[in-house]
Amino acid sequence: MSARLPYWGVKGFSSVSRSRSAFARVASNPLVYRAHTALLGRARLEAAIAPVVARVASPVDDGTVVDVGGGVAPYRSLWPPSWTYYVVDPDERVADLTDDTGTIRRLTGAAERVPLGDATADNVFMSAVSHHLDDATWEASLVEVRRLLKPDGAFLFLDGVWNPRRWVSRVGWFADGGRHPRSTETLEGDIGDVLTIESVDRLTLLHDVVIVVARGERV
Ligand SMILES: C[S@@+](CC[C@H](N)C(=O)[O-])C[C@H]1O[C@@H](n2cnc3c(N)ncnc32)[C@H](O)[C@@H]1O
Repeated sequence: MSARLPYWGVKGFSSVSRSRSAFARVASNPLVYRAHTALLGRARLEAAIAPVVARVASPVDDGTVVDVGGGVAPYRSLWPPSWTYYVVDPDERVADLTDDTGTIRRLTGAAERVPLGDATADNVFMSAVSHHLDDATWEASLVEVRRLLKPDGAFLFLDGVWNPRRWVSRVGWFADGGRHPRSTETLEGDIGDVLTIESVDRLTLLHDVVIVVARGERV
């Protein structure tokens, strides 16, 4: 279950809630998003993800990645340039973004209902999305991941986690547009209910971050 985010314990504090929504709207603008993730340590995150991508990406020239909730697709360059790279996102602003690589196919869709066929993907990638999904949507999204993966495909998941012991992280979640941060135990447990977890890596930026690789076949 996702964490219930506190409004600093103050009931009916709607101006805080309104300011937070306004902030989240601005922060989710693709250009603002690029700038603020750079400030929050995107380079370190990218350095942590790169070896995991290199390990899970199949050694083929014509692979397919489905980047669920891919937004501005900040990690496209980590995947083989010759691969087809689908970005599936419900935010219509994302569909208008230009693609310098010429390899990104943008689809308007949602994690729980991806407009692609079964066994399309060598890899499904989901970065910083699960905290935007309520419990039912998050669970449905994992079933979609399993449906999308080829039999030997791999899911690469990463997100910040809910850790109430880190106050700086709590402040970060308060300001975030995503209302459903989860503990690492919950995320790993939910993924393991649907897929077979192969590896788990962790690092700490503003939030503790978990990187999970899982395969389609459940043991
Ligand atoms: C924090 S951004 C992450 C973007 C990108 N994956 C990254 O790592 O920078 C969250 C993204 O999730 C998308 N999103 C929100 N709800 C979604 C849903 N139900 N299905 C798929 N994507 C969703 C948002 O539109 C946004 O692009």
